[in-house]
Amino acid sequence: MEKEITVVDYPLPDREELKRIIDDMATMYKDKAVIDTDPSFREELVDALLGMTQTEVENIIARVLVVDARLDAKDIPEIIQEKIQIIRKSGVLEFYPLNESLDSIGGLSTLKKWLLRKRVCFQSKAREYGLEMPKGVLLTGVPGCGKSLTAKAVASEWKMPLLRFDIGKVFGMYVGQSEENVRRAIQTAESIAPCVLWIDELEKGFAGVGFTDTDSGVTSRVFGTFITWMQEKMNPVFVVATANDVSKLPPELLRKGRFDEIFFVDLPNAKEREEVFSVQIKKFKRNPDIFDLSSLTRYSEGYTGSDIKGVVKAALEEAFLDNGRELTTEDIFLQIKQTLPLSATMKERIDSLRNWAVNRARPASSQWEEIPVPSIENFSQRRKLEL
Ligand SMILES: Nc1ncnc2c1ncn2[C@@H]1O[C@H](COP(=O)(O)OP(=O)(O)O)[C@@H](O)[C@H]1O
Ligand SMILES: [Mg+2]
Repeated sequence: MEKEITVVDYPLPDREELKRIIDDMATMYKDKAVIDTDPSFREELVDALLGMTQTEVENIIARVLVVDARLDAKDIPEIIQEKIQIIRKSGVLEFYPLNESLDSIGGLSTLKKWLLRKRVCFQSKAREYGLEMPKGVLLTGVPGCGKSLTAKAVASEWKMPLLRFDIGKVFGMYVGQSEENVRRAIQTAESIAPCVLWIDELEKGFAGVGFTDTDSGVTSRVFGTFITWMQEKMNPVFVVATANDVSKLPPELLRKGRFDEIFFVDLPNAKEREEVFSVQIKKFKRNPDIFDLSSLTRYSEGYTGSDIKGVVKAALEEAFLDNGRELTTEDIFLQIKQTLPLSATMKERIDSLRNWAVNRARPASSQWEEIPVPSIENFSQRRKLEL
């Protein structure tokens, strides 16, 4: 039997039903095995099981109990692995490995703080208190400054599965298939919730909705399905969408009630570049303290996070090829000298992104005083006022 048909078409047990199934199994196995009764573990277990059919739940619990006659916290990863299989089979979504954390992001302090707050509001306690379920965040801004990186980090930080929704793949060949694809992706995400749904480069899917009519309205209908879902969704699916070219996005998407917040991720300022150097040097398993970070920061104005990663990586390669000697600050300097930063080659585009963001997005960073090239006086003034 095709797994995806089960996932999409049959109602899956909700939290209450899962609790009942767990209790039934605990009774059934009471002479042979124990299911830990700690209430917070039980909640975690229910989270892990959400998205499976009753039969799958019974199978996995039975399987885990056989091993050591106990079902407790150590078994959660195995249960989550089971869910990963469900996603793989759906084909529309990709399960993404969790290998970043908020610590692997240099700068973007406002955005990071905001995410930590939302994490708390995302818990069921917040619902009992009367808060609405957070919907998600849209990250826009200069390419290479950490939008996709942040999307990846949120899920690991929140200890939730990360689903990448490839919006390009949604548009199938046959009439009706695209809408079916998007509905299926939404249902799959809801069935494995709580989770983070990452939609990278949103503009690639929804560019020009409402402006052109080249695909007989398919894009508009898919967009409509998505927007309605964003507006109404109650399940714990936190959407992290990224967009480089925001000007192409349909304005409806930016209205209140869709995303909780729209952030603008700008080029890193001096303090943030220092952090990015430190993070990137650490990623290559070197100790940042032995490098002259303040000089590196001074000479890398206008560099994106991605540019910084590039120079550290190139410097490391050069040092290795030079008889495998250890990496030095000078090696990185040399690479900086040879690299034209993205902002220099895209000055006009960056200016226009910043202009767009002035009244529409919140700055992801609170350190505006030292914004590197290119700069628009007015813009930094207004941003300061907004904080
Ligand atoms: N703020 C940052 N801190 C640390 N590394 C960064 C940062 N921004 C970018 N990088 C590095 O550059 C790579 C590309 O950045 P990415 O997040 O994909 O950019 P984009 O904003 O275009 O989505 C990241 O994987 C990371 O290695
Ligand atoms: Mg990206």
